[in-house]
Amino acid sequence: MTDHLLGEEARVLRPDGWWRSAVVYQIYPRSFQDSDGDGIGDIPGITSRLDYLAELGVDVIWLSPVYRSPQCDNGYDISDYRDVDPLFGTLADLETLIAAAHERGIRLVMDLVVNHTSDEHPWFIESRDPASPKRDWYFWRPARPGAEPGAAGSEPNDRPAAFAPSAWTYDPVSGEYYPGIFSPGQPDLNWENPEVRQAVYAMMRWWVDRGVDGFRMDVINLISKPIGFTTDALDPSGVEPTYEGGSGPRLDEFLAEMNREVGLDDLNLLTVGEMPGSTVETAIRATDPGRHELNMVFTFEHVMLDRVPGGQRWDLVDLPLPVLKNNLAHWQLGLADVGWNSLYFDNHDQARAVSRFGDDSPEHRVASAKTLATVLHLHKGTPYVYQGEELGMTNAPFTTIEQYRDISALNVHAAATALGVPAERVMHFLTTRSRDHARTPMQWDATDTAGFTTTTPWIDVNPNYPTINAAAASEDADSVFAHFQKLIALRHDHAVVREGRFELLLPEHDRLWAFTRTLDDERLLVLANCSSRPAELPLEDLPDHVDAELLLGTHLNGRPDSLAPWESRILRLDQS
Ligand code: GLC
Repeated sequence: MTDHLLGEEARVLRPDGWWRSAVVYQIYPRSFQDSDGDGIGDIPGITSRLDYLAELGVDVIWLSPVYRSPQCDNGYDISDYRDVDPLFGTLADLETLIAAAHERGIRLVMDLVVNHTSDEHPWFIESRDPASPKRDWYFWRPARPGAEPGAAGSEPNDRPAAFAPSAWTYDPVSGEYYPGIFSPGQPDLNWENPEVRQAVYAMMRWWVDRGVDGFRMDVINLISKPIGFTTDALDPSGVEPTYEGGSGPRLDEFLAEMNREVGLDDLNLLTVGEMPGSTVETAIRATDPGRHELNMVFTFEHVMLDRVPGGQRWDLVDLPLPVLKNNLAHWQLGLADVGWNSLYFDNHDQARAVSRFGDDSPEHRVASAKTLATVLHLHKGTPYVYQGEELGMTNAPFTTIEQYRDISALNVHAAATALGVPAERVMHFLTTRSRDHARTPMQWDATDTAGFTTTTPWIDVNPNYPTINAAAASEDADSVFAHFQKLIALRHDHAVVREGRFELLLPEHDRLWAFTRTLDDERLLVLANCSSRPAELPLEDLPDHVDAELLLGTHLNGRPDSLAPWESRILRLDQS
């Protein structure tokens, strides 16, 4: 009954389809703001910075995990879904944060990590006993036939984990193995078992009753395992259940069941499923409103374009602009009529966009951060801003492996080193792509540790904080921050930015990213020079925009027939 009443209230607070006009801001709590001087960010720290987010204008916070956790993967390994880790504060602190965000008109979405638990979760601990009723909540399996349990090479199959050499860990207590496709500290839950699913749904309802406005669902497409996941045989489709993707046959069924049982659509909650390996086809199924699964998914296609298919993780290739923009356009067209896109370049798992897709040199950093944001935010979908992206924060100049903290970085380094890969090649991968680049402390001001903490932070602050910080940005009308404010306001003010049809122009141009957005008789033209050299505009191949109104530009006094390095313009075309 209580749930129901809360639900009714919640629905009034969250009108139908509200997330289609929202901009989401992701907070990685560990690196946002420390309030108690232990060098690690926390929830009271976030609450103390809410006015900053209100000033930016975002509608939603996505909070990366703050649950109880041994922190083997910085909280993506949860040992209690209904409590807050003391590192980050208390449940009461979180309730205060939710209320304070709501007071400012900002909604809050929790991270939901239910493909796996921590190996310290009571469910898992209980399941280690072969006689336990929870035994089947995980995938316990014997050694491969004829092999000695626990001996090297006896694992049920040869699948690697994302952050460890094998997906399988031997448990001497029960004489069997369990899979953790990320790491041994993250055992996979068995979603085939209906009790597991009901336990997850009950936990989600518990959070909804605490006032959260939705869920970002961690690697949610991996909850349904491909046939043959625990055996030596491959799924007949050849799909591999790895971080790179590979869903089993029951994904859509599980998502629809979750939606129904938790009331996700009934309560108008925001749902975004992280889906490595997803394609336009799988995303259409998951986000078709008629199927009641998810609002939107995070695809990985555009952030994997610089990887060598089937190659090692440290093998990288150049990413020509046409490849990137055509990929985003493919998703725009694919989900134009059914489903919805999420838009991101940055998050806690990616290197900083301005260093990766832009030019982070002092000369071009500001313009390229703005132009990347213009391009992304003018696509159709829900944009995600990752903490510090709105300041144009860059990759960290780490030079030694000791500066890295991430389980993934350390594992890649160990794996590559064991294979004899030259140190320069491994370090090149880490200095350009490590997840730790996104995890250096938020740069608030020019004081020691960038205003993040009063002690030594858990990971080094990027030494460029004296120039790149929020305090400096707020005093500069031309800052990256000011540009993000304008982009967010544009989305709120213009239906064409939210709902307009997308059309890519100049698809093969290797430096210009150009497209239109059209809604009824309104039409916008977006022109972006994604290079550090001036670019001529091929006027004959573009809609006439000589008299168009400039809604937002990165430079003053632009010439009509060319763009300065990293210049972009959003123009309203005269349709009369
Ligand atoms: C997701 C998270 C990532 C985490 C992994 C395992 O990809 O975004 O940070 O390591 O899942 O939970």
